[in-house]
Amino acid sequence: MRAFEIKKGIYWVGAIDWELSEFHGYLTQRGSTYNAYLIIDEKIVLVDTVKSHVTDDLISRIKTIIDPSKIDIIISNHTEMDHSGSIPAIMKYSPNATVVCSPMGEKGLKKHFDATQWKFKVVETGDKINIGKRDLSFILMQMVHWPDSMATYCLQEKLLMPNDIFGQHMASYERFVDENRFDVVMEEAKKYFANILLPYSRQSLDAVTQIEKLSLDMIAPSHGLIWRGDDVKKILKAYDKWDANITVNKAVIVYDTMWGSTKEMATSIYKAFEAKNINVEIKNLRKTHISDIMTDIIDAKYICVGSPTLNNTMMPTVASFLYYLKGLRPQNRIAIAFGSYGWGGQSLNEIEKVFEFLKYQTLDTIKFEYVPRKADLEKMTEDLKNKLG
Ligand code: FEO
Repeated sequence: MRAFEIKKGIYWVGAIDWELSEFHGYLTQRGSTYNAYLIIDEKIVLVDTVKSHVTDDLISRIKTIIDPSKIDIIISNHTEMDHSGSIPAIMKYSPNATVVCSPMGEKGLKKHFDATQWKFKVVETGDKINIGKRDLSFILMQMVHWPDSMATYCLQEKLLMPNDIFGQHMASYERFVDENRFDVVMEEAKKYFANILLPYSRQSLDAVTQIEKLSLDMIAPSHGLIWRGDDVKKILKAYDKWDANITVNKAVIVYDTMWGSTKEMATSIYKAFEAKNINVEIKNLRKTHISDIMTDIIDAKYICVGSPTLNNTMMPTVASFLYYLKGLRPQNRIAIAFGSYGWGGQSLNEIEKVFEFLKYQTLDTIKFEYVPRKADLEKMTEDLKNKLG
């Protein structure tokens, strides 16, 4: 397998996971890549590795450039095993290599692997390592995505290797965003933020603020395609918006249904938003994965969740979505709970509890006994239109 030169003497030597279809619950329809970068200088540096099942890909790409036993430094920007999984294999080739990581990175790596023989160099923000013609410096980015996360920056190359942040789960032969479809890459970057970094948007904002002070012409994340030229500004601008939780006048209606009544209610709610000229989407939880719904929710002002009552609670699909939402915690939304019921109607209370936990402003709670008629549905639309103002 070949290495891709991304800058003179700096190579992408990662792995392409064409068949990855899910990543801890996140649907990755486009696969992913685990990006590792090899820097050839007086010291040979490997920045991050790959998941262990594709270690051979990493090694074979490195071998097209250099004997892996010549690696002097392995930078571990993040302990999660999609990036650290092949460090033990590299250490077998090059047992005297130094592992450079954050303080939490050292702790994490020692918990993941038998690292008793590994030589560590622990770095803090602003620390610098000279590797010959180049210097590498580090920015600790706690919780972007784990407590150990950090970015590696090369001033001479204006190159940032920030690991997860700015990544996309996207397998492709191309290495740069400008070689692929920009709209698709941005959609995947948005999905990545919504499903991975959203709960840490405050920390992400701090990281982006530091990153924006750097002189940059390339951001090479650890998943997906590399941002260069004008695309660097575009992804930073997108993160400014996502980190700041900027929403637009848009509603996402998420529901499941048993006999169609809750679906009809979803349509009535849709009509109210439509009448008010508010962008609106309906997502049936049997048809759309929760991780894709999160991409739509990231900039939606209104979140509407509907479930009929089943066994005195909400439907499992809705519960799954709400628990996912609760973990990812998008803030400051206006919410509507809705659903039909036969006798108890407890699903509505369960949905409301999650809205309360998330401190959402509840615009309405709409419940209907058994099957709404045409006039009931029309009234529902009219009532909601009035509430929308
Ligand atoms: Fe790509 Fe947090 O690992």
